[in-house]
Amino acid sequence: MKEIKDQKEYINLVDELIEHDEHYYVKNKPLISDYEYDRLLNSIQSWEKKHPDFILDSSPSLRISEALTKGFLHKEHIEPMLSLANTYSIDEITDFINRVYKLLNKKDIKFTSELKLDGTAISIRYDKGKLTQAVTRGNGKIGDDVTNNIKTIKSIPLTLKGKNIPDLLEVRGEVFMNIKTFKELNKKREEEGKDVFANPRNAAAGSLKLLDPKEVSRRRLNIILYGIANAHNYVNFQYEVHKFLQNLNLPTSNENHYKLCKSADEIVSFANRIEKERKKLFFEIDGIVIKVDDLSTYKKLGFTGKFPRYAAAYKFKPDQAITTIEDIIIQIGRTGILTPVAVLKPTFLAGSTISRATLHNQDEIDKKDIRIGDIVIIEKGGDVIPKVVNVDFSKRKKNIKKFKIPNKCPICKSEAKRFDDEVAIRCISPTCAGKTLRRFQFFASKQALDIEHLGSKVMQMLYEKGFVKRLSDIYTLDEGKLSQLEGFKDKSIKNLLESIEKSKKCTLSQFIMGLGIKYIGSETADLLANYAKNIDKLKKLTKEELLSIEGIGEKASDAIIEFFIDKKNIEEIDLLIKHGLNPNVTKQEINQTFLNKIFVLTGSLEAFTRDGAKKMIKERGGKVTSSVSKNTDFVLAGDEPGSKYDKAKKLSIKIISEKEFKSML
Ligand code: IVH
Repeated sequence: MKEIKDQKEYINLVDELIEHDEHYYVKNKPLISDYEYDRLLNSIQSWEKKHPDFILDSSPSLRISEALTKGFLHKEHIEPMLSLANTYSIDEITDFINRVYKLLNKKDIKFTSELKLDGTAISIRYDKGKLTQAVTRGNGKIGDDVTNNIKTIKSIPLTLKGKNIPDLLEVRGEVFMNIKTFKELNKKREEEGKDVFANPRNAAAGSLKLLDPKEVSRRRLNIILYGIANAHNYVNFQYEVHKFLQNLNLPTSNENHYKLCKSADEIVSFANRIEKERKKLFFEIDGIVIKVDDLSTYKKLGFTGKFPRYAAAYKFKPDQAITTIEDIIIQIGRTGILTPVAVLKPTFLAGSTISRATLHNQDEIDKKDIRIGDIVIIEKGGDVIPKVVNVDFSKRKKNIKKFKIPNKCPICKSEAKRFDDEVAIRCISPTCAGKTLRRFQFFASKQALDIEHLGSKVMQMLYEKGFVKRLSDIYTLDEGKLSQLEGFKDKSIKNLLESIEKSKKCTLSQFIMGLGIKYIGSETADLLANYAKNIDKLKKLTKEELLSIEGIGEKASDAIIEFFIDKKNIEEIDLLIKHGLNPNVTKQEINQTFLNKIFVLTGSLEAFTRDGAKKMIKERGGKVTSSVSKNTDFVLAGDEPGSKYDKAKKLSIKIISEKEFKSML
């Protein structure tokens, strides 16, 4: 951990972390690894512990503070949170617009069209620029106070920046989960035998209602704001709302994602463009929202039932198709989880032919009553893997049986069972061939040792030929064995042997991942590697030590202990090391081009990660600091450089581009 010297350095580091939050959550382009981020955050927290009287309100540590309380209170909204009438066709959009024309008795009306974000609504209050309250929509009038959970969202500022900060401001928007985060979360949950979320919306809504803000923080929620309660007190037009929010440093849609439209045609063409671009977004939307731009007309327009007449949603059709379930097969994972997968009559959906859909687990099959032979609707949501939405029971043939995941492993035929606290059914045999092959495949995969040219198919061939019976056999492969594999010639043999050799210098975290310990994902592997530093220590960690590592819980600790108690696992690790695997990579001798030179990095680099650039500078004898001063030698400026760039200019510090940096290397 980096020790903070003084208050100035603390302020600079807080600023730096806020900048990183923005790159991660707003620009979706992180500049540093999660590990490096946590390291900086730890430094901030340890300084704050020593200086409790000087903690900045904007400090990222406050998002995960121990002081956050559990449980929700109920709070009334200062202006009700409404919902929108839905439209599904161009005709319906035209009806909506015509109604507005008629009620306002003129046709010269502008509309702001925006994204309809697919998450869960929130209202956030700032008192004198300080985030004081965040309440869910609830019944529209009263919602749950989830302030502490909202504070964990890194793109939402805890204090407002900018000119003319209002005394009281209540902003409104949508909390959601980035698609990538959603996939990672579900993958982890599946590995841990937990229920998966059906879509990012459910994951976001479920996460926001968790009682432990620390857990919410791990869910990495995101937010985009689109409105202000009593907006007419601040601006005259909806189109200005986005700019107003942006000026206060609040996260709002980017300029391509809202448009001032003068006619139904313009609205429809905006909707069509957004529908096309939808797949490229890093979050889910389910349509657009059309709002009369002039806020002064809202009162006159009034309501129909519970919906306001000044706005409407236009919902996109979900990507769905109808097909038949021809079979349900059981796939086995590396931890023995048996996953039911529907084999579908191939059908075209959202740009590709679909022939499989995951059915997740027995509960999911029971809930939807999915059976072999059923005609089903499949849908492609945020997840790339399509899912079965529902069964068309009217078309179900008579006498087809309910589907039950067998209580025997389809590969080794040993007992498969459901453990008390899990939804998954697992094969319990430690020697199951299916599980073993998956484990080997995982070891070589990108998630673990990342052995290029050793994909799942090649590993399967090696396993079936008996060349890899245990993990360490990978390191005994030679030309003679590889030449017996189908399609393997001189070049592919050479490539594979080189990648295997290269993998011997993996990181400790990659190695831990490769061991395939139950409940250990990449985050936990990083934590373990960071704590243990070497394999010997790793093997001897006690439960007490494991539990002392922030981020490692009871279940993971037990799984780690259980793994290292098993003599067979220790024997395998020792063999891997004997064959040359050396996770404590020794440093190569590198020339000291940057000896004693001080660098500051700003903006995003193309060819390097921030960590990568820092490492290269340090390896060459240089130093990297977080703020520009007269002692700085070089400012390495990437895309969209921040305030450090301006400061460097002011102090006449040499600013170098990424290209210049490369040539210096
Ligand atoms: S405006 C009357 N704008 O859609 C205005 N809502 O059914 C009410 N939503 O609960 C909200 N994106 O959660 C508005 N750009 C957007 C939106 C949006 C998503 C959600 C919001 C609301 C629901 C309306």
